[in-house]
Amino acid sequence: HDHLITSKQLSREDIEAVLDRAAEIDADPAAVAQRHAGTLLGLLFFEPSTRTKMSFETAMKRLGGDIVDMGSVESSSVKKGESLADTVRVIDGYTDALVLRHPREGAAKMASEFVDVPLLNAGDGAGHHPTQTLLDLYTIRENAGLDDLTIGIMGDLKYGRTVHSLAYALTNFDTQQHFISPESLQLPREVVYDLHLEGTTVREHETLDEILPSLDVLYVTRIQRERFPDENEYQQIAGQYQIDAATLEAASDDLTVMHPLPRVDEIAADVDETTHAAYFEQAHNGVPVRMALLDLLLGGETDE
Ligand code: CP
Repeated sequence: HDHLITSKQLSREDIEAVLDRAAEIDADPAAVAQRHAGTLLGLLFFEPSTRTKMSFETAMKRLGGDIVDMGSVESSSVKKGESLADTVRVIDGYTDALVLRHPREGAAKMASEFVDVPLLNAGDGAGHHPTQTLLDLYTIRENAGLDDLTIGIMGDLKYGRTVHSLAYALTNFDTQQHFISPESLQLPREVVYDLHLEGTTVREHETLDEILPSLDVLYVTRIQRERFPDENEYQQIAGQYQIDAATLEAASDDLTVMHPLPRVDEIAADVDETTHAAYFEQAHNGVPVRMALLDLLLGGETDE
């Protein structure tokens, strides 16, 4: 079976197949309302989530299927010390596909080796978040187009898994990528190395102002407090790399501002009403994109 562990596995053709299917579903969701009746999706979230978990649940139900939810770590037998491998081996037998979020980098890859049904990585520590990337790409394609694109990715580039997945996926398109962060939160060097191997020039900046006017998309991320080994280090960085409506006066009128959410204080509320703000639309796109992904993975009448 096909597992989705990292965006590195996705070719341009794979990405376009999901985005095209998502656009079809978005235009006529009623056409697929019973397409996967009887299908069960297992949700295994070992870390908090609002969007990813609820949009997967919505997506499966809107395709006519249902979900089986492990619930929180506290209310499951993980609390008694059960291993991840044993947990996924059991839920594998209950369901037709699995969605896993886990605080440990590499957890999805490891878990996928113990299951027969497709396993989708919904975030593994500071590693990857490939289904987020698909909805990000859908949003970029709708707002700015994926080729001839200049994107700035700002904030916590070290621990931000949405950033890692997005940066890899964008190497499939004609995109200039700029990375804006404090030095201590730059992209991991192995990601920079991989991007170079894919022919992408990594342009790193410590401030937004020098690059803002040339951007088509600004992708802002939260500083990932839960990943810092030292709270003091977080406190020194917290509050930097924020934007508000005044910041965006220097931007192109067509700039699209994105954020995977949740935001803490990176984007002021006065940006929400500007024509730049696309982050709530981005979160809503999680449903058609995850419907498309599930539909393609689970197969159906057309078995694409
Ligand atoms: N963007 C995202 O992954 O949000 P959640 O943590 O709420 O799922």
